[in-house]
Amino acid sequence: MNLIEDLNWRHACKGMNGTKVPQEKINRILEAVNLAPTSLGMQAFKVLVIENKELKEQIYKEACQQQPITECSHLLVFASYTEITDRYLDEYFSLIERKRNPGKEWCDKYRKKIEFFMEKNYNNLEGWLAKQTYIALGIACTVAANERVDSVPIEGFDKEALNRILNLPDKHLSATFILPLGYKDPAQDWMNNQPKVRKELNDLIEVIR
Ligand SMILES: Cc1cc2nc3c(=O)[nH]c(=O)nc-3n(C[C@H](O)[C@H](O)[C@H](O)COP(=O)(O)O)c2cc1C
Repeated sequence: MNLIEDLNWRHACKGMNGTKVPQEKINRILEAVNLAPTSLGMQAFKVLVIENKELKEQIYKEACQQQPITECSHLLVFASYTEITDRYLDEYFSLIERKRNPGKEWCDKYRKKIEFFMEKNYNNLEGWLAKQTYIALGIACTVAANERVDSVPIEGFDKEALNRILNLPDKHLSATFILPLGYKDPAQDWMNNQPKVRKELNDLIEVIR
């Protein structure tokens, strides 16, 4: 029930006031992001946490003219890998071994499964990898709301410019969305206290018995 209250409290915050969010709240949001499910558990993305004022201003000027970019407390940039290298998989499997020690036979089988999925998505590997980050977005927004931290997912930005500013292509990464975290400025946040625009549950849900 409380979670539904949190989700009703949350809205896409259109104007923030520059107030800092306590680090422990940010840490809990990031911990939740790390717990998001991802296809095959690969977590093939990075989250950049930007606090630097000048960098936020550069991003605002060159990649995304939306007010929360400069007035947020922490600017999260989610970036998915554009390719999965053998080295990436080696590191993933050494993590699995450290955590669960499932043995070589299991790992070989699972690696084949991953390779099969990558081949299956070969024509749109980037798209498949990018999709994974959106699950983490949902969780980040939910936990932020639970912490009474405002947020707004932003896809409306110049991807090429943002990737360039953050040197993402050098790391085989590409930005999927931005998530400013902060506190609303009621004078600028025209979405504040607006009723939610949502379908009736019956229009969204079809029960098949
Ligand atoms: C993937 C994604 C991208 C979005 N991009 C933007 C954006 O660029 N700018 C913005 O102000 N809102 C953006 N939004 C917010 C939506 O417009 C908003 O969530 C929707 O209108 C529902 O309103 P609510 O979140 O306040 O309930 C985005 C939301 C999602 C999930």
